[in-house]
Amino acid sequence: MPGTCIVGLQWGDEAKGKIVDLLTLEHDFVVRYQGGANAGHTVVRDGQTFKLSLLPSGILTSGVTCVITGGVVINPAKLLDELDGLAKQGVTECGKLLISDRAHIVFPWHFAEDRALDVSTSDGENIGTTQRGIGPCYRDKVGRSYAIRLGDMLRDTFADRVRYICDAKNSVLASMGGNHEELDAARIISNYQDFAKRLRGLVADTTETLLNAAEAGQRILFEGAQGSLLDVDHGTYPFVTSSNSSGVGVSAGAGVPGRYIDRVVGVAKAYTSRVGGGPFPTEQDNDTGQHLRDLGNEYGTVTKRPRRCGWFDAVAVRYTARLSGVDALSVMLLDVLSKLPEIQICTAYELDGQRLSTLPSHVDDLRRVKPVYETLPGWQTPITDARAMEDLPERARDYLERISQLVGRPVDIVSVGPDRDQTILARQPLSSTGTS
Ligand code: IMP
Repeated sequence: MPGTCIVGLQWGDEAKGKIVDLLTLEHDFVVRYQGGANAGHTVVRDGQTFKLSLLPSGILTSGVTCVITGGVVINPAKLLDELDGLAKQGVTECGKLLISDRAHIVFPWHFAEDRALDVSTSDGENIGTTQRGIGPCYRDKVGRSYAIRLGDMLRDTFADRVRYICDAKNSVLASMGGNHEELDAARIISNYQDFAKRLRGLVADTTETLLNAAEAGQRILFEGAQGSLLDVDHGTYPFVTSSNSSGVGVSAGAGVPGRYIDRVVGVAKAYTSRVGGGPFPTEQDNDTGQHLRDLGNEYGTVTKRPRRCGWFDAVAVRYTARLSGVDALSVMLLDVLSKLPEIQICTAYELDGQRLSTLPSHVDDLRRVKPVYETLPGWQTPITDARAMEDLPERARDYLERISQLVGRPVDIVSVGPDRDQTILARQPLSSTGTS
């Protein structure tokens, strides 16, 4: 069976890019299956930092085919910027890129709608979107009347379609209130025709490509964006993104049946962070939270917003590990906890006097839960040079062991710093990655 999936188990920003980068060499294809330029992944290679958003992390490896599937929503200007940025950073040998003609395109009206809607949620708490037009683009995809896919941008009917949609969207935006600039159809058509010209050579029926690859036993790495708790169907709705960001999204987004995925690596930080609105039971809006933010450099890759930080929530991660079909855990940023005298883990929730061992499905209940904590002693020793489990202080190993017990999955990978070699492989060797 040829498929591996890397999926975030919290609210995103779990440092999945590093694990994708490590596993890329074992694969022929690296595939983005959902999300858009709301995602941000940082890959550090030989001391050089690469910030990617739409491009799969595998793009830094030559010989690999990277695929942006139909489940992704594409801002073409951003995608081209990223490709140009790689060239500027001196990356000449990179993976081949294919982009699905089924992928939906983000247009200026989506940005305007995102800005207008995010300030008008009725319960007083905003979703706090990345303002990248993601939700409105997915809404139009499902609504169909005002959607444009990459394949449509390459057809003669494209200009007419944009004019028709601009007319409709100008009325929609006017009805939303606020100061919206009138959409200029001619300018949009001209800009997007330029984008289409540059992207044309990369466009493919990637569903067919990936089905052929899977059937031929080629190895495919599916790279999740955001985290499972932001999944539109199974996350902390409505404080979620607009796609299936958990493992359940792979088949729909990439068009590859689940039978071709035989390994799912769940990526979680050794603590928790969240950016944007919504309940966060283990949040530490205090000095501990600030300590984690400072040491973990917890500021959004895309929006630069400070991330909310808190303790590891084993209830939430156990739920998402089950939801995403996780085989093994990759625990990231363990080094961020190294100075703390004590570390807490949330082992259960309490709601109305009842003990809960799983995530309530309604956001109002999740808002009201009280975390039940277990306190573990900190190790208070730097661990960034550890390269094997034996190099870690016993208390750090105990912490990982407790996470593994509570989540019900083995910890296969531990990250103790941003560089590729600051990685501990706890169980199976990743032989071809060059990491020992
Ligand atoms: P949207 O995806 O821009 O619509 O934002 C919806 C929610 O998902 C907001 O709370 C965002 O902060 C969050 N979000 C979207 N993408 C990411 C990500 O890559 N990392 C963390 N949070 C994200």
